[in-house]
Amino acid sequence: MAKRTIVALPGDGIGKAVLDETIRVLDAAGFDAEYVEADIGWEFWKSEGNPLPDRTIELLKKHKIGLFGAITSKPKDEAFEELAPELKEKGLVYSSPIVGLRQLFGLDICMRPCHTYKGNPLNFIRRGVGDAIEEPLVDVVIFRQNTEGLYGGVEWTNPPTQVYDALMTHPKFKKNFGSTPKEEISISTRIFTKKATERILRAAFEHAKNYGYKSVTVCEKPNVIRETSGMMYKRALEMQKNEYPDIQLWNTNIDAQMMWLTKNPEDYGVIVAGNMFGDIVSDGFAGLIGGLGFACSAQFNPETGVGVFEPTHGSAPKYADYETSIVNPIAMVESACMMLDFIKENEMAAKIRKAVAEVVSEGKVRTYDMMKMRGQADVVEKGAASTQQMADAIIAKL
Ligand code: NAI
Ligand code: MG
Repeated sequence: MAKRTIVALPGDGIGKAVLDETIRVLDAAGFDAEYVEADIGWEFWKSEGNPLPDRTIELLKKHKIGLFGAITSKPKDEAFEELAPELKEKGLVYSSPIVGLRQLFGLDICMRPCHTYKGNPLNFIRRGVGDAIEEPLVDVVIFRQNTEGLYGGVEWTNPPTQVYDALMTHPKFKKNFGSTPKEEISISTRIFTKKATERILRAAFEHAKNYGYKSVTVCEKPNVIRETSGMMYKRALEMQKNEYPDIQLWNTNIDAQMMWLTKNPEDYGVIVAGNMFGDIVSDGFAGLIGGLGFACSAQFNPETGVGVFEPTHGSAPKYADYETSIVNPIAMVESACMMLDFIKENEMAAKIRKAVAEVVSEGKVRTYDMMKMRGQADVVEKGAASTQQMADAIIAKL
């Protein structure tokens, strides 16, 4: 087979450190690939006025698979302030390159697995009957619709007259908001399409079928958000009945789900939700299995085969300039395993996950987060593993 080319997108802050270490792990596992580095993030916003340069888009079009560290983004005023002086007059507006990638490549399926590593000191524990301490084994995969809904970007403050007039035709808008001056109204829409909703549901059911999960839970709020959540749940019911009768379909409301999260997390299998609720519920589950140092994600388009694999965490700028990087690379390594699964290198992915599991359960090498330290430059002196030492430990197991 021809050597794979992977587009390496380090981004900002700690993105580079975790990506470099992950590539070392991939090499050690025997993954035969060439990496082309591509520009993305805040630096390119500042210097070029574009955090997602065309050359990066071209590389992804060509090679299809991206391994992505993390980026920095800042509020509107700061974005303008930090722009190179010669670009300030151009009327440029910052927009997230991650959202840009999702929309440009139709990366509408976002998958975020959260599974417990035995021996991880950050695992969630709870009190059981008679004061027993229980450590539930979480094995949940969240499927989050990645391109629509509340993050779809269709929003206004002081909406155009046509929009306002159209909204005034809705009795509830007229009654509840009709007396507020138009300039005082901000609107963020929540649009779901049937096609994208069916695609995320199908991805969830297929995953449950292929990996032996007994249930798919739609985590929305169909009793209140009747049109969008309602449509998703209704389609899920039909799909389950006609196509996946062996898989149970559960229905939870996002608010209740967040409350019950700690009560019975081991009962859930595959969870599927719209964009924002998927974002929320996946962070909730990630908190049970170690938090940002462990939370990985994949976003892809099953039809085109384009996929971008990244940890859930951001660029953690306060740690970016440490001489020795202290952050946990496991979330990035796990994201790389999802990439390997996506390109059907499943054995290699399993091998790396096993190595990570061994390091975690042995407990000899732990990054600062796993030692419950405050993230500071001296944590390595105090016994925490650096980013590189954690990668070394994983490599030693390989
Ligand atoms: P963050 O995820 O960068 O960091 C929050 C805190 O989590 C850190 O201070 C650190 O204590 C911990 N943390 C993060 N990654 C860790 C790791 N690998 N190991 C151990 N601890 C880790 O989120 P924050 O501080 O809210 O945002 C920083 C920047 O990142 C912002 O500019 C934000 O816009 C951006 N961001 C980018 C994301 C992305 O690239 N996908 C996602 C989230 C935030
Ligand atoms: Mg999030």
